[in-house]
Amino acid sequence: MNPKLPTSKRHPRVIRTLPKLERALAAWRAKRRTIALVPTMGALHAGHFSLVRIAHRRADRVVVSIFVNPTQFAPGEDLGTYPRTLSADLAALAELKTDVVWAPAVATMYPDGFATRIVPEGPAAAGLEDAFRPHFFAGVATVVAKLLLQCAPDVALFGEKDYQQLKVVTRLTRDLGLKTRIVAAPIVREADGLALSSRNRYLSPRERAAAPTLYRVLKDCAGRIGSGEPIAAVLEAGRAAITRAGFALDYLEARNADTLARPAAAEPLRLLVAARIGKTRLIDNVAV
Ligand code: PAJ
Repeated sequence: MNPKLPTSKRHPRVIRTLPKLERALAAWRAKRRTIALVPTMGALHAGHFSLVRIAHRRADRVVVSIFVNPTQFAPGEDLGTYPRTLSADLAALAELKTDVVWAPAVATMYPDGFATRIVPEGPAAAGLEDAFRPHFFAGVATVVAKLLLQCAPDVALFGEKDYQQLKVVTRLTRDLGLKTRIVAAPIVREADGLALSSRNRYLSPRERAAAPTLYRVLKDCAGRIGSGEPIAAVLEAGRAAITRAGFALDYLEARNADTLARPAAAEPLRLLVAARIGKTRLIDNVAV
């Protein structure tokens, strides 16, 4: 530790190799410290920070992983241009007193000859994100399983922003018998309702002005469905409103809040949307 820096501003230790990660974790476990993991792809914003704050409340030590995972991007998606802002990320995590940043190289996560994929089903095959990004959940499941095995945290934090991902990871943890408790964190939004996302920085001023429509429509649909209007008609009107605002809609759907299956009877519902504006694809969701 640098004694000249106040403790609150001390940068987290950045670890890039597995042996060093294992040593750091073993030292904590020897002292019976509990460990939380916050998996991210960096370009951190207030949504990520809320996960980190919850992690610090839930465990003695916090690891934030920063890894832009190539296997969850399809050719033609934004892997090459995905924002990488490591020094700003580290400065922000210093304020939050994060202990370790796990930032492996691609070759550390996927060494030569790597030939295994976890292909999740159930919530990963709900016909939502998976219908538009068919490669996505196998990439997420494989890297999240690796991160959970590497860190063996007591808890891991995932945002409801990526609601289908949260359900896939929860299922995966159960199915593989991993000991980590998956904790869901609420969506952090801008004042006008737009859900924070690393990809919001791609929006032009005009697109940014239209972007809060997604949340507005979700809230409106949730209110109407909650007060008994027929789901199909409410969603049809919602789809039209999103298209009118200049989006190319991928989906606006009502699903069982837990399984993501199409609703059959009275049950807890989640409304989920994905839509493109210009070159940017946005997702959002709300509870009914
Ligand atoms: P990333 O998009 O960096 O998101 C990391 C975590 O932050 C996810 O759990 C996501 O749901 C959460 N998050 C993002 N924006 C949020 C917001 N506005 N409010 C609350 N939480 C928010 O999701 C990934 O990375 C990757 O797929 C990953 C799980 C790290 C696997 O590579």
